[in-house]
Amino acid sequence: MAERETWGTRIGFILAAVGSAVGLGNIWQFPFKTSTEGGAAFVFVYLVAALLIGLPAILGEFVVGRRANINAVEAFDRLKHPAWTVVGALGLLTGLWILSYYSVVGGWVTRYIVGSATGAYFAAPAEYFGRVSMGWEAIAFHGGFMAVTAGIVAFGIEDGIEKATKLMVPSIIVMLVGLAVYAFTLDGAGAAYEFYLSPDFGFIADNLGTIVPYAVSQAFFSLSLGMGAMITYASYLGDDDSLFADGSLIVVLNTAVGLLAGLVVIPLLFVQFGTVPDAAAGGGAGALFVSVAQAFADLGMAGRALGVVFFGVVLVAALSSAISLLEVVTSYVVDNYGYSRPATAFGFGGALFALGTLSAWNTAWLGWFDSLAYGVLLPLSVLLGVIFVGWVYGPEAVDEIQKGTSNGGSFATAWLWSVRTYVLAGVFVTLYLGVTDIYS
Ligand code: PFF
Ligand code: NA
Repeated sequence: MAERETWGTRIGFILAAVGSAVGLGNIWQFPFKTSTEGGAAFVFVYLVAALLIGLPAILGEFVVGRRANINAVEAFDRLKHPAWTVVGALGLLTGLWILSYYSVVGGWVTRYIVGSATGAYFAAPAEYFGRVSMGWEAIAFHGGFMAVTAGIVAFGIEDGIEKATKLMVPSIIVMLVGLAVYAFTLDGAGAAYEFYLSPDFGFIADNLGTIVPYAVSQAFFSLSLGMGAMITYASYLGDDDSLFADGSLIVVLNTAVGLLAGLVVIPLLFVQFGTVPDAAAGGGAGALFVSVAQAFADLGMAGRALGVVFFGVVLVAALSSAISLLEVVTSYVVDNYGYSRPATAFGFGGALFALGTLSAWNTAWLGWFDSLAYGVLLPLSVLLGVIFVGWVYGPEAVDEIQKGTSNGGSFATAWLWSVRTYVLAGVFVTLYLGVTDIYS
């Protein structure tokens, strides 16, 4: 078999992982959930969840990937026993499931770049969303998004994913900073910052049961956990990096981009509506598209330029995430069955395009796919992964965390303790609440 690829540089790995993490979850969903789940209170709980649960969990995936040095399914066999490949397979399937509709939203975003340039949605943003979000047009743009994703993955790790994300991630950050500075100059941004940045701890206490599971699931989705993506990316990693240093940087950058996106979106909404739009009234998945589009429409010609830049950033972020999910299955098939990388990437891209046509045909399907992913598949997959790395693989995992670090074992021991206890409990509760929420 041909020699397995590796990242060209350490920063290449970090940027690819940040590219996977930073996506629609940060720029589209995070500000949206923030506006419906209590503003700064949600932001606060999310930050705690990302740091206390997301960081240990992402380190667990890095351990599995780098230690096994093979794709996200067989890694569990190589580290322990063939039976544990079920965990990897569930992650892989969860990723494919999510990518099928993620690409549909990627298609909407692409459509909105064009719509901003021509001002097509300016007259009637809500009606425009209704027209482009479902049906043949949505299917066509979904196909285009998936084709570009497969095209990048076809080029491989160093020449495809690493090169692309090295360009994409810095441009996402630069453009978002620019947009946030612009938003700062808007009249009325002050009320937005108040809503966004000053948490009401009483509200948190009263709504713990809904805020916590939402925030924890959001942290998983946002960090691309439970989809095999971080296992796969870490499998192309050399032994001399400190997983803790890289993982912390990735979590911090991902969180920072989410916060930045909120600094753009929330002021835009406040300036337009004086508040954030009611989720129910706005209509689920489309609420943010409609209200952000309305905000650009009110700015006339300047709104066109801003719209192109804003939706451009969202598109780049969505693409750099989508390639990580297509890479999970591609690396599995290439490692295991020896098919060519381009054929695998385009083959699975085509199959997922077909599955995603359901979501592109009717947003009710998209909502169903998303709620099953959020409420069940993701937390279940993360839970099994945490059990594996904490209780099944335990002591050897500590050894892997210690590599490349100068400080002794105290951090690694604390990490093992955390995944064995409260991280496990937190994921379990999130899964339980997600399942009961869906099937109630
Ligand atoms: N971390 C991604 C995000 O926040 O948007 C989640 C993700 C979803 C990654 C779908 C990749 C993907 F195809
Ligand atoms: Na993210």
